[in-house]
This record gives sequence, structure tokens and C-alpha cells, in this order.
Amino acid sequence: MLVRADLNVPLDGETITDDGRIRASIPTIRNLAGRGAMVIVCAHLGRPKGTPNPKYSLAPVAKRLAELLGEPVEFASDVVGESAQAAMAGLRDGQVALLENLRFEPGEESKDDAERALFAGRLAALADLYVGDGFGAVHRKHASVYDVPRLLPHAAGGLVLAEVEVLKRLTEDPARPYAVVLGGAKVSDKLGVIANLLTKVDRLLIGGGMAYTFLKAQGYEVGKSLLQEDKLGDVRGFLDEAAARGVELVLPVDVLAAEGFAADAAHEAVDATAIPADREGLDIGPRTRELFAAKLADAKTVFWNGPMGVFEFDAFSGGTRAVAEALIASDAFTVVGGGDSAAAVRRLGLPEDGFSHISTGGGASLEYLEGKTLPGLAALEDDQVES
Ligand code: 3PG
Repeated sequence: MLVRADLNVPLDGETITDDGRIRASIPTIRNLAGRGAMVIVCAHLGRPKGTPNPKYSLAPVAKRLAELLGEPVEFASDVVGESAQAAMAGLRDGQVALLENLRFEPGEESKDDAERALFAGRLAALADLYVGDGFGAVHRKHASVYDVPRLLPHAAGGLVLAEVEVLKRLTEDPARPYAVVLGGAKVSDKLGVIANLLTKVDRLLIGGGMAYTFLKAQGYEVGKSLLQEDKLGDVRGFLDEAAARGVELVLPVDVLAAEGFAADAAHEAVDATAIPADREGLDIGPRTRELFAAKLADAKTVFWNGPMGVFEFDAFSGGTRAVAEALIASDAFTVVGGGDSAAAVRRLGLPEDGFSHISTGGGASLEYLEGKTLPGLAALEDDQVES
């Protein structure tokens, strides 16, 4: 059984700083192994761009996977080479192996269909059946996500099924008021999702680095804060669209303006309309935290993606914490879109069970909410095997 998982976890050297995605992958692997399957797990780590690079080795992940499973995990030091063949040949019923980083092989991400298909064939040859469970990567048209399920009888894994069920609940008739909180550094990463959300939500709250392009589009100066000048036109379009549709677009009313981008930078809360020219906004301010909490208090459905500030610096983590706490306090169906916001929840020591769902997919959940067809889900749609 070949299981495509998303084990793309943050590493500091060889130390895994957030093992959320490994933990989320455990139930499917355990279920299959427990039922006697020989399980070969494949996954990517980072973006090594088709070349083996020890910095992106999955070896530390294999170790953690074994700890969490409470079973040994045979680690293959290549993807489809001798080591992978040997690992496969050595597996007994109910045992688990992990292949080295899929992205060490140029065929995995190739835009050339033939090159991808060739690699997919070698990967598929390792197994009889395929389980797609790497939700965080289903938006990638990669060999292990898109091509292998065409070559093997396949099924969606439990994680993918659970994630899709949650996203369906957000897109098909969500309980209202439906509020979405978006943050993160770049508005350019969120253009598609904002355009689509404006047709679905009642309230859209914008924080994080991307908020400054909104403030500038409204005519305010943002000092040295993050600004994407080339996206001002798109953002002005969103402001008009929100007004025309009656969507409440909520922007920061104050920010923490810092002297520089540093954990110990001197800073103060200033009105969002009066950011000094030599300061940069690194978090939403206290009045905005209250405003956002008030806008979330009576919502029945909330989706949150992207930190409100530079949460990695304690002094600028308060906005992100406030939004997370507002979700925890709420009775709504609350969903945290993966990536940085999920990492922030864990880093800030907040209870994961305080949310209805924490997605393992950052880009994947955003592209789903954007209304796109996701290659890895499309490939699994004709489930051929009972999961
Ligand atoms: C993610 O981290 O969102 C997924 O693992 C996909 O990784 P990628 O953006 O490098 O394709």
C-alpha cells in the first residue's frame, strides 16, 4: 500500500519544531498497518527542487513517525532506487516504511507530463494500491499526488476525507453570520480566495502584513510597513466589491508600529490612519483586537487563515493570540486554515481542541475555498477501493 502523506513539517536543523502534520497522518497509517497492510509512506519536505539535499531529508521525520506510531519505521535513503526497493522487499504484513523526500526526484514536480508519468510509474511499481492522504499537497499537480492514482487502484485516506468534509461545510450553505479572518504577509497569495470569499461571506476581517495594502488603498500612509504597490488596483476592486455586495470588510483601526523588524524593536500602538513614516506595523493593535473579537462573537461559522502579526516575536504575537482566543471562546463552527496559523496556535500554547478543526493544508484549503479543482482530489474522486 503506497500512502501519500503530507509530512512537510518545519525543521530547525534536525529538530522538528511542529509535528502537527505527522500526528495528523498517524490514524490512516495505523489503520492500514493494523489491518495487515505493508505500508510504504511517501511525502515531500520543503522545496529541494529535484536534487537530493541532506537539509531536506525526511530522516528526522521517519524517527518522529516511529515514535508516534510506537512501531519501527524502515527509512529508505532514496525514493525509488535500491534502498526503496530493499525497504519494500523487506516489509512484512503490518509494517511501515518511509521513502526519502519525493522532491529529490525531478519527475515529482515536473511540468512535463511524460517526465512526471515516468517517475509515477516507478513509484507505483512499489505497491499494489494507493491511498491519497496528503491533504496539504492536493493542490499540487505532482506525480505522487496526481499521476500515481491513475496507475493504481486508489482511495482517499481518512485525513483527506475529514478535511474535505470540513471545507464543504464552509462552502455549501455555511451557518450565518459567516466570518473569515485573513492575515499573513502578502495579499498577492490571497487574491483568488478573497475574490471568491466576497461572494460567500458576511464579514471579512483583514489583518497581518496584507492589511497595509488595504489601508494604503483607502488612502492612508503606512510608513515602512509591508506594502504591495502592484496589488493596490486589485485591493481597490475588493473594497468596491465588498461595498456593492454588502459584505462587511473590517480593517485594523490601530497597529503596533515598530522602529524596525526585530523581536526587541521599540514600538507603540498608533491609529492605523496615522502610522509614522519611519515605523512599520508588526501587529494589530489593542483596539483592533477588541474590534475583531466583537465581529467574531456572534458568528456561526468562522474560517481563519494567516497570522495577524509577526507572531514569532513575542512582542508582536498578541494580535494572533487574540484572534485565536476569540475563536476558542466562540460557539461557531471554527476552522483554522493550516500553515502559519496552525503553527501559531501550537506555538502560542493554545488548546488545539478549542477549534472545530485545524486544517493541515495552508495553500490547499485556500485553493479549495477559491473554488479551484484540486488535482489531488480530482484524481481520487473515482475512489476504486473501499477505504
Ligand atoms: C504546504 O506546506 O502547504 C504543503 O506541504 C505543500 O507544500 P508546497 O507549498 O511546497 O507545495
